[in-house]
This record gives sequence, structure tokens and C-alpha cells, in this order.
Amino acid sequence: MSFWQEKIKIGTLSFPRFIGGPLDGITDSPFRQLVREFSQEELLYTEMRHVACVAHDVGGAKSLKFDQLERPLNYQVAANSTDYIEAAIEKILAAGVDIVDLNIGCPARNVIGSGSGSALMADPARLESILKLFRKLLPIPFTVKIRAGFKEKNALDIARLIQDCGADALAIHPRLQTQHFEGQPDYGLASAVKKAVSIPVIISGGVVNFKTAQLVYNQTGVDGFLIGRGIWARPWKLYEMREHAQGNLWQPTTKMVLHYAMKHLDTMLHYYGPKGLFAFRKHLPFYLRGLPNATNIRAQLVQSSQAHEIKEVLASLEG
Ligand SMILES: Cc1cc2nc3c(=O)[nH]c(=O)nc-3n(C[C@H](O)[C@H](O)[C@H](O)COP(=O)(O)O)c2cc1C
Repeated sequence: MSFWQEKIKIGTLSFPRFIGGPLDGITDSPFRQLVREFSQEELLYTEMRHVACVAHDVGGAKSLKFDQLERPLNYQVAANSTDYIEAAIEKILAAGVDIVDLNIGCPARNVIGSGSGSALMADPARLESILKLFRKLLPIPFTVKIRAGFKEKNALDIARLIQDCGADALAIHPRLQTQHFEGQPDYGLASAVKKAVSIPVIISGGVVNFKTAQLVYNQTGVDGFLIGRGIWARPWKLYEMREHAQGNLWQPTTKMVLHYAMKHLDTMLHYYGPKGLFAFRKHLPFYLRGLPNATNIRAQLVQSSQAHEIKEVLASLEG
């Protein structure tokens, strides 16, 4: 069996190597439901939620509102201390997930301002107490998503700490906090992390199709591939990569793209109610990208406040 057909083992569980990454506001429950139409076995990360929000049901408990068909799910949280972790874990386990992930890579100002996300990479002592508590409380696999470092690259030390604290795998997005999501990812650093630990290492950054997965694998030797922006408005992406890895040429047809754009809108309306329409509009340009005839109507569509109007125009593009 080739590397690409083998699975990645995370604790007692195993999954195909291509994994759906977390994109806050994008890879939400409605989107993950669409992904499941193509890929049933693949692991999907949820978007990051602070343990205090989960513990207190902030946002009408939306963070725990998902469908069991979205599993296997890696539920991602942020924390800045050991507070709220126990209460959050109790709720997450009751909701039914497969893995819990701690995010220590988020670069956002409001997140690092409270000492969570990537700020934790600059505070190994605090991080250690948090990691140990997660490990103690979690009867299911536990993973951590890191960056190259906060202001300085210290991913090697942090990866060893994560392993020593008993995590089952780690994902690395090899950019510094200061780089946010831009600039060349440091695949050399990801390769060094892979060599430094024996737990599985997942790469995040720049993998958008099977070809880029191969290129990144050659440079890093990692075990798994987290697809972030590459999956946006492409719920078939993990399926496509799996097909390409098996040597099958597969491409979505224009009709399929438009069908899933409309279905995405319906799923969001069902999940969020009428405000789902406004949340959906940010996805439209990504579905329309590269489609013939789309340029002229894109501006009109992203302004529309009528679901039926958007659907009629999309249907007319089927040609
Ligand atoms: C809009 C946006 C939202 C993101 N939200 C999260 C998040 O909630 N949790 C997380 O770990 N990473 C988040 N990320 C980072 C991605 O998961 C990923 O690490 C990064 O985009 C690099 O991978 P890519 O090149 O495949 O997109 C986000 C990135 C973007 C662009």
C-alpha cells in the first residue's frame, strides 16, 4: 500500500491523510455537512472556540451545535489558563466528538491579547499546565495545533513539550505570529519538528491539492495534511485529493459547483436562520471563481438580500 493510501494514526483512531482544517466562520457546521456528502471517513476540525465560551454556552451554544454526521470531528478550543477547561471538556464530550485539539497558533490580536492562541507558545510554563490538564481530563485523543513560534521560532521545543505532556499528534502551521497567514511557510522547520518527535505530525499551510501535498511531503516527511483555504467553497476537495492520490482524474463539473453553492446557501439558512444569507455571501465569489460568465454577475450577487434571487442567477449560469 502506498504512503497516500495508508492512514494517519491519532491515538487509537486512524484517518485518511488529508484532513479538513479549521477556518473560523468558513468551515462551520453547514459547510462540514456538505463535505460529508463527498468524504465520510476524513477527519474535520471545528473552528476555534475559547473554553470559557464553551463552558458558558456563549452565542446560544452554537459552538456545540453540530450534526453527528459531521464526525469524525476534531473539536478545537483555545485557552489562556487552566480555568474553564474542565467545564468545557465535560460539554464537548457530552456533545460527541472524536478528538479535542488545543489551538496555540492563532495570531489574532484579540486572541493573543488574552494570552491564548500563539501567545501560549511564548509561555511554555503556562502552556505545560494547560496541556497536562487536557491530557488528564480527556479520555479521547488530544492534539495541539502550533505555529513556527510567537515572535521567535521555538516550534521544536514546543513540539517536544507537547509530546512529553502526552498529546497524540500535533499540527504545525510553520509561520510566525507576525506573519499571520502570508509569506512562505517554513517547511524546513516542519521537517525538523517531524524528526524531533515520534507522535504524528500534520502540516498546515499551502496544501491546496494533491500536487502540493506531494511537494510538501517531499520537503517535510509529515504524516498528515490539513487543508485550510484550499477547501473553502470546495466541499469536494478532500475527495478530489483522495481520487488524485489514486491516479484517478476527477474534477467537479460547473453544474456540480453551482449545485453545491445553492445547497450551501440552503444549509446555512437552515442552520443560522435568515441571517445565514448574509453569512453565505462571503462564500459566493469563491464558488464563482473561474466559472465562465461569472464575472459580470458576481458584484450583483454578493449584494443580493434575496435567497431566491441568488439561486435563480446561479441556476441560469448552468447554461
Ligand atoms: C479566515 C481564516 C480563519 C482561520 N481560522 C482558524 C481557526 O479557527 N483555527 C485554527 O487553528 N486555524 C485557523 N486558521 C488557520 C488555518 O487553519 C491554516 O493553519 C492556515 O490558513 C494555513 O493553511 P492554508 O494555507 O491551508 O490555508 C484560519 C485561517 C484563515 C485564513
